[in-house]
Amino acid sequence: MDIKTLFTPLQALHATAYRWWQTGLIYHIYPRSFQDSNGDGVGDLPGITQRLDYLHWLGVDAIWISPVYPSPMADFGYDVSDYNNIHPLFGTLADMDALIAAAHEREIRVILDFVPNHTSDQHPWFLESRASRNNPKRDWYIWRDPTPDGGPPNNWISRFDGQSAWEWDEATGQYYLHSFLAEQPDVNWYNPDLRQAMLDVLRFWFERGVDGFRVDVVYRAMKDRRLRDNPPNPDWQPGMDPSKRLIEQYTKNTAESHQLNRWLRQVADEYEDKLLIGEMNLPLADLTAHYGDNDEFHLPQNTNIPRTEWTAESIRNLANQYDALLDENDWPNWVLGNHDVSRIASRASRAQSRVALMLLLTLRGTPINYYGDEIGMTNVEIPPDRVQDPWEINVPGLGLGRDPERTPMQWSADPNAGFCPPDATPWLPLANDYAQVNVAVQQAQPGSMLLMVKRLIEIRRQSLALQVGSYQSLDTPPGLFAYLRQHEAERRLVVLNFTDRPQRWQPPVALDRLLLSTVMDGEMGRETAVSLRPHEGQLWQLNAT
Ligand code: NOJ
Repeated sequence: MDIKTLFTPLQALHATAYRWWQTGLIYHIYPRSFQDSNGDGVGDLPGITQRLDYLHWLGVDAIWISPVYPSPMADFGYDVSDYNNIHPLFGTLADMDALIAAAHEREIRVILDFVPNHTSDQHPWFLESRASRNNPKRDWYIWRDPTPDGGPPNNWISRFDGQSAWEWDEATGQYYLHSFLAEQPDVNWYNPDLRQAMLDVLRFWFERGVDGFRVDVVYRAMKDRRLRDNPPNPDWQPGMDPSKRLIEQYTKNTAESHQLNRWLRQVADEYEDKLLIGEMNLPLADLTAHYGDNDEFHLPQNTNIPRTEWTAESIRNLANQYDALLDENDWPNWVLGNHDVSRIASRASRAQSRVALMLLLTLRGTPINYYGDEIGMTNVEIPPDRVQDPWEINVPGLGLGRDPERTPMQWSADPNAGFCPPDATPWLPLANDYAQVNVAVQQAQPGSMLLMVKRLIEIRRQSLALQVGSYQSLDTPPGLFAYLRQHEAERRLVVLNFTDRPQRWQPPVALDRLLLSTVMDGEMGRETAVSLRPHEGQLWQLNAT
């Protein structure tokens, strides 16, 4: 079916003014952990296809799938050895085609992960590049001579261990640069042939029907051409993440980054209605520069909630600052977490996770939900003999490992949570509480977190104020965060209690009707003041203006 015929009447109403990625909800899938269909303990593409009905039921508009390409898995797929194929662990190209078709039938768009900063050291491009100094692909990567004393060309360090980012290649007598693992050599975007080859990867997938890309660490891909040393970080102390001991002045967010953004965008614009999300772990002021003049990223990804203290005051400041920094054409976006940071239900507490989901689904901008957050999945403690993440292996004991937030999706109380067959061993351990915290239990449990989230998504779909309306925060007592969303005469009020105490607040606007409480106990009614229980969020309809 042609996806353009799939707009619901509401979407059709404002389809000309707003794109699918502005009004919709994006769901982030870590594919190793979503659904295993062949019993090897690792999730795969047919597994995702099997679960599309769940995503459709929930009200998801698009899925972003972390990398599924052939890879030696040194960094679990972020070390790609062939951009135009699928790793056998995840399936085949035919499985991807089937997934795209099945998703589109359900009005769900498909976003893949594109990794432009580095390839695997097993990628044929790199194998050629390291074969000899005069190989035509030598300049596709960043090779440099040693300093006179034989040391690395500059002081840059790897994000994954804080050691030199330069790896010595004995055979050709030069160093190559790797911002992450030595198995992930950085490519040279200043080389026009490399550039062409990378941009053709986007075209390959767009032509197969992919609707967009999340572009991995794109803000690191254009390094300083002169390879100047990074200055020391005066705030760094021993015991902190060793990769933070330098200020990354010359390795990330350089002026040249914007040129790369524009190259990517030009390719996306060769097609109709495609989306580019740029991974930008940057403070707001730097982040918002990556919209360009509507010629860079559609969504420079805002990963600031995970880096902000979970208090009403800090989150309000963040939302207000972001809103103030955005230009008229810049579309906001939000995440509570992802495969690189602690889960929201662990960071903010499980009691707060419903409030967090209400925040995500009612702030102005595109929400991106990390799989399992909708049922309140928490981080899982990983026994030392089951650690997988190279970051934890290289820098143990600092809590940098990312396995805890990557554990299998909890589908049911069946053995292995329905993620893989009972006799298989899931690649990471399951949460101890999966018999209670899972999709099947929560689908049947009135008042569950999952049913609350589903209801909220439904309400959002019906409300232009929530999808595209303006945002304005209100003054409240400490511990509360309240904001108005408005589109024409339609007005909504969101009030979130970040504390474990009951709160009462007289809003400066006339309340009409309580549409949803995160507590979901059916106590919905008409009142003049807002009474909140501990950890409660409320969504109100206001009288039309
Ligand atoms: C960011 C990705 O999200 C992370 O998982 C990966 O390890 C690094 N980029 C390197 O590609």
